Amino acid sequence: MCDNCKKPYYITTPIYYPSGNMHIGHTYTTVAADAMTRFKKMTGYDAYFLTGTDEHGQKIEQKAAEAGVTPKEYVDKIVANTKDLWKLMNIEYDDFIRTTDERHEKIVQKIFRQFYEQGDIYKASYEGQYCTPCESFWTASQLVEKDGVKVCPDCGRPTELVTEESYFFRMSKYQDWLIEYIESHPDFIQPASRANEMINNFLKPGLQDLCVSRTSFKWGVPVDFDPKHVVYVWIDALSNYITALGYGTENDQLMQKYWPANVHLVGKEIVRFHTIYWPIMLHALGLPLPKQVFAHGWLLFGNDKMSKSKGNVQYAQPIVARYGCDALRYYLLREMPFGADGNYTNEAFLTRMNADLANDLGNLVSRTVAMIEKYFDGVIPAWTDAVDETVDKPLHEHCAALPQLVEAQMDKLQYSQALAEIWKVIGECNKYIDLTQPWVLGKDPEKKERLANVLHTLAECVRYVAVLIYPFMPTTPERIFQQLGVQDDSLKTWESLDQYGKLPQGTKVQKGEALFPRIDIKKELEELNPQPKEEKKPEKKEQKAEKKQEKKEKKVEIPEGCIAFQDFEKIQLRVAKVCACERVEKSEKLLKFDLDLGTEHRTVLSGIAKWHNPEELIGKNLVLLANLAPRKIMGIESQGMLLSAVKVNEDGTETLRLLTADAMMPAGAEIG
Ligand code: ME8
Ligand code: MG
Repeated sequence: MCDNCKKPYYITTPIYYPSGNMHIGHTYTTVAADAMTRFKKMTGYDAYFLTGTDEHGQKIEQKAAEAGVTPKEYVDKIVANTKDLWKLMNIEYDDFIRTTDERHEKIVQKIFRQFYEQGDIYKASYEGQYCTPCESFWTASQLVEKDGVKVCPDCGRPTELVTEESYFFRMSKYQDWLIEYIESHPDFIQPASRANEMINNFLKPGLQDLCVSRTSFKWGVPVDFDPKHVVYVWIDALSNYITALGYGTENDQLMQKYWPANVHLVGKEIVRFHTIYWPIMLHALGLPLPKQVFAHGWLLFGNDKMSKSKGNVQYAQPIVARYGCDALRYYLLREMPFGADGNYTNEAFLTRMNADLANDLGNLVSRTVAMIEKYFDGVIPAWTDAVDETVDKPLHEHCAALPQLVEAQMDKLQYSQALAEIWKVIGECNKYIDLTQPWVLGKDPEKKERLANVLHTLAECVRYVAVLIYPFMPTTPERIFQQLGVQDDSLKTWESLDQYGKLPQGTKVQKGEALFPRIDIKKELEELNPQPKEEKKPEKKEQKAEKKQEKKEKKVEIPEGCIAFQDFEKIQLRVAKVCACERVEKSEKLLKFDLDLGTEHRTVLSGIAKWHNPEELIGKNLVLLANLAPRKIMGIESQGMLLSAVKVNEDGTETLRLLTADAMMPAGAEIG
């Protein structure tokens, strides 16, 4: 399709403050915008993706002064780092705007002047509480009290009383129009809960006129008709979404083509600016509003928002250096529903990498390729009539429907759900291998046609998956296509998924290295967070060991409510008869068990001493997770894990009791 016939799609990220280097919070929004752009481009849109940096303001001025450089020198360095980071993350933006660009500054001045000339902006004297880190004014009633001090409701830091002669924007004039607009455009603010918040907390109580200029510092866009003043950073910053398109210049084709934006992606802390001030600015300029402002949640560090100014951050670079950019992109887009908060932890990241990437996807690809090599000399076999209606057909149909399922989620910006749809098919393929048992078919020459069908099905499903994961993980598909031997670019497109079964026979597969090697999580974590080796009192060590043990026993993985049957099958549960049981010396929590499994004895530790006396347990039949990798706890190797039930008491404490099996069952009996 020619570029001019394609539907335009304009997506933006916030322009970030280059007050410090960007962390995975900024990476998160930018990756989300990139994935959407790639998805839209893949599905036939003329997509345009804008990101950039918001370089003015007092905070940057202060930071530069601390560093002993000019503000411009200070931001240039960070902008360079930011661009490197986006390259590393495989971000393909169409434009990167800096608010220090001349193209931007000139138009901001022009916009400000227009507001003044049409009476939206007036000059007056002002007194208010200002939060410098957030570049935000607050009224007395908006401040919150913390340890007896009134602080910024957004970041919790103290504010300063500021008195200035300033320009003000008559926000109040547009209040009723905006309420009506938001109420009649339910898609404008997403998630919808944020719309209610804006209406109830800011609009209904009455909009204050906004102070839109500063005289207390210099680092900003000067008001051209009153150069003592610089334009308030938010008026400056929000304008970027149109100055980047050439608004207000003769060269405004991009503006004609792409405005109004389809979506502004923003973190939830800046929704207010994007859904109150920005719409009012646009309306005052006579421009249509963006179709949507989507507020995503925060990556947290513990319970706190990860933030440059708090310094509690995780950066993308070390993760990418170790595990690749696609793994991090996958995690960010998969782990938390877009809109909700979530934690980044190395452990959660590695767990997901192992489960979804190494096991589910990686194994599917390597098993498919290996079986085609083994049974068909590496050549993808022809499609045959040996179709099993009950086993093959549902998978073919599911696979054929997958592009639409993914698109429906992407249209709602539900990245995590879109990936979940793809992974459902991956899971189904792995189940299909277990059901069809190609290794059994391979032994019987009469089953060759059936086997051909099974392997063609798997290869075609893998091709669908490879095409569809591209927006999220742009470098992985090519690695899969190489293994599948798919060279024809027309088999790598969205259009090629319009009909199931297009993968031709005769393609020669080529085993490659594992897409995502399995990770020894414990070892990795130790390398990622090396524990300082210091002499500790023995009790402390024990407490730590006990805590670890406790954590291990309480930890239950529940990926989206269910596990696959083959995952359950990996678990070996056995009846374990207690031969001996005693407290572990110097530990309040641990009991040491000698367990009879019929053919062998096991030593197992369990942090259950608070809830069971050793004596009452002897002779009982307990339930042992028998194939858990052995672990050393307090110098003793524990060879499995005893299962227990947990009750949460009214006061929040827990009561645990070990699970028992029927006394009739012999030691070692399998549970399943
Ligand atoms: O607010 N979790 O810039 P900023 C998720 N310059 N997203 C996060 C995040 C976290 N912990 N931390 C940052 C500004 N982000 C203004 C914007 S726009 C006209 C001006 C992401 O450097 C998220 O998108 O504080 C958030 O809204 C943005 O970075 C804030 O970046
Ligand atoms: Mg911020």
